[in-house]
Amino acid sequence: MSKTVLECRDLTKHYNDGKHSVAVFESIQFFLRKGEIAAIVGASGSGKTTLLNMLAGLDLPTSGDVFLHDASWSSMKDTVRSKTRNSSLGFVYQFHHLLPEFSALENVMMPMLIANKSRKSAEQKAKDLLTKVGLSERYNHRPGQLSGGERQRVAIARALINDPLLVLMDEPTGNLDETTATEIKQLVKTLANELNMAFLIVTHDESMFDWVNSVYRLKLGKLHQEKG
Ligand SMILES: Nc1ncnc2c1ncn2[C@@H]1O[C@H](COP(=O)(O)OP(=O)(O)O)[C@@H](O)[C@H]1O
Ligand SMILES: [Mg+2]
Repeated sequence: MSKTVLECRDLTKHYNDGKHSVAVFESIQFFLRKGEIAAIVGASGSGKTTLLNMLAGLDLPTSGDVFLHDASWSSMKDTVRSKTRNSSLGFVYQFHHLLPEFSALENVMMPMLIANKSRKSAEQKAKDLLTKVGLSERYNHRPGQLSGGERQRVAIARALINDPLLVLMDEPTGNLDETTATEIKQLVKTLANELNMAFLIVTHDESMFDWVNSVYRLKLGKLHQEKG
C-alpha cells in the first residue's frame, strides 16, 4: 500500500464573530496517498476553502490536527511551517496569483529561489516544466500576455518546481471556459500519473468526479466519501 502523504484527524473548525460560534465542519477524517488524485466537492459556502487552508497549514483548526507525512502543522513553529509549505506543497488557485511584473519563466522559478536553490538550476527546471505543460514558446511572456488557460498552466508549473509531496488546488478550473477547463483537467491527470505526487482538488465542479481517483463531498459540516 502506498504511503500516506496527508492525514487529518477529527478536524473541526468554528468561526467566532464575537457573539456566535459558527461551525464550518466537525470531526473530519481524511487521508491522501502518494500518487492519488482526490477531489473534495461541495456547494459554494460548504467550507472547501476553509478545509484546504487547514490542510495546507495556512489556518489552524479549532480542534483536531493535520499531519503532512508524520509531522503535524500545529506542532511546528511558524518559520518551520512556512519553510515546509514552500518545500513540500504546491498551490494552484482559481485566480492564478502570478506576479504580473515577472515573466512566465521567472514566476515558475520563484519558489525554487525562495528555497535558496541556484538561479541556474531554477531556470533549467522552470524551462523543463513550462515545456511539460505545453508552454515552451511562452517563457518570456508576462501573465497579462497569456490566455486564462496558459496562465493556469504557468501556475501549475510553478506549483511543481520544488517537487512537492502534494499539490493543492482550489477551484483550478473555476475561471475557465469548458474546453479550457477540460484541457487543464487532462493536464493534471497526465502530470499526476507521471510524477507520482498526490493532488487534492477542491471544487464545486461536479464533472471533476470522472477525472479523479477519489471524491469526497463536504456537506452540512461533514465529509462523505463518494468514490474511491
Ligand atoms: N474568515 C472567516 N470568518 C468567518 N466566517 C468565515 C471566514 N471564512 C469563511 N467563513 C464562512 O465559512 C463558510 C465556508 O466558507 P468557504 O470555506 O469559503 O466555502 P467554499 O470554499 O466551499 O465556498 C461560509 O459560510 C463562510 O461565510
Ligand atoms: Mg472556496
